[in-house]
Amino acid sequence: MRILFTECKEGDEALFRAALDSLEVITTNGTLAEADEDAAIGILSVMAHSHIGTDGMDALPSLRFIATRSTGVDHIDLESARDRGIVVSNVPSYGGRTVAEHTMLLILAVAKNLPAALKCAGTGKFDLSGLVGVDFAGKTLGIVGVGQIGECLATMANGFDMEVVGYDPEPRDVLDLTYVELADLYRRSDFLALCCPLNDATRHMIGRSAIAQLKPGVFVINTGRGAVIDSVALYEALEAGNVGGAGLDVLEMEHLLRPGAREPVGEKEAAIVALNKSLMLHQRVVVTPHMAFYTAEALERIREVTVENITRFLSGSPTNVVHN
Ligand code: NAI
Repeated sequence: MRILFTECKEGDEALFRAALDSLEVITTNGTLAEADEDAAIGILSVMAHSHIGTDGMDALPSLRFIATRSTGVDHIDLESARDRGIVVSNVPSYGGRTVAEHTMLLILAVAKNLPAALKCAGTGKFDLSGLVGVDFAGKTLGIVGVGQIGECLATMANGFDMEVVGYDPEPRDVLDLTYVELADLYRRSDFLALCCPLNDATRHMIGRSAIAQLKPGVFVINTGRGAVIDSVALYEALEAGNVGGAGLDVLEMEHLLRPGAREPVGEKEAAIVALNKSLMLHQRVVVTPHMAFYTAEALERIREVTVENITRFLSGSPTNVVHN
């Protein structure tokens, strides 16, 4: 059986070859779109930048199993996979705390004006001009999507004496926050953290209409998926001062920003890529390159669960199966 691992990080290749020595392992640092076509591939293991749609599946007639090395599955056309009998497994819980830590980092950075301070220090200046920040104590953090990441974030925010409210269509018992309706969360939040998956309900959830309901000067943090925010609306709101700052680990169409990515096709893609570059340069925005998961410990857990997912599929009892 031939298996292709895309988006490999340092150390992945040696580990996967050793752990799966009965398979013919092929690895690439690039995405699926950048990989050579190979009709013999039976198993694919990808990360979030490899979109797997019908075209990709058509090009891989032997494909039987997709082991995504991510929690999110929005990059995979699950319906088409199901129609073709392709099983999909994910890594459901490798790092709620890891991603929450990064979310907190972004909250700290925007609230304390870190991007502007670093820029100033980078020019050799040791100057407070324009750098006044805000305290956390007594402020409200609104978390959209109270899953593993949202729950860990709530606990951390409590440690800063913040009031924490959350919205989730499937609320669970979580000690460290109060569930509220979405409109209430928008109205109350000084910091808005998007920790939800990308799905039909969350695509462009933060657009002009939601932004109009937010507290003036709110800080918007996104570690979920880029397309949860309508970037055009966010940029307008930053320029108008309605949004005070943004911390973004994920961007719309971020795969087009990766090293070696193809050129944008058409006006829409070109406009989003240009807008992303403006966001990256904005004084009140911190952008990190989809790295909230990227710690040594989380990578280790992702690898372990992925090997287990593949081994279990091969033995006929797949685990962590994602249902459409
Ligand atoms: P999870 O599955 O534990 O939690 C997701 C929560 O979002 C669930 O409670 C679900 O009910 C809720 N949700 C679903 N639809 C919603 C909606 N319309 N509005 C509000 N909430 C909604 O997943 P986890 O581990 O907390 O991860 C959440 C997302 O974070 C992932 O789907 C992925 O997109 C993103 N992520 C980003 C990473 C990064 O490196 N930036 C790393 C890992 C995950």
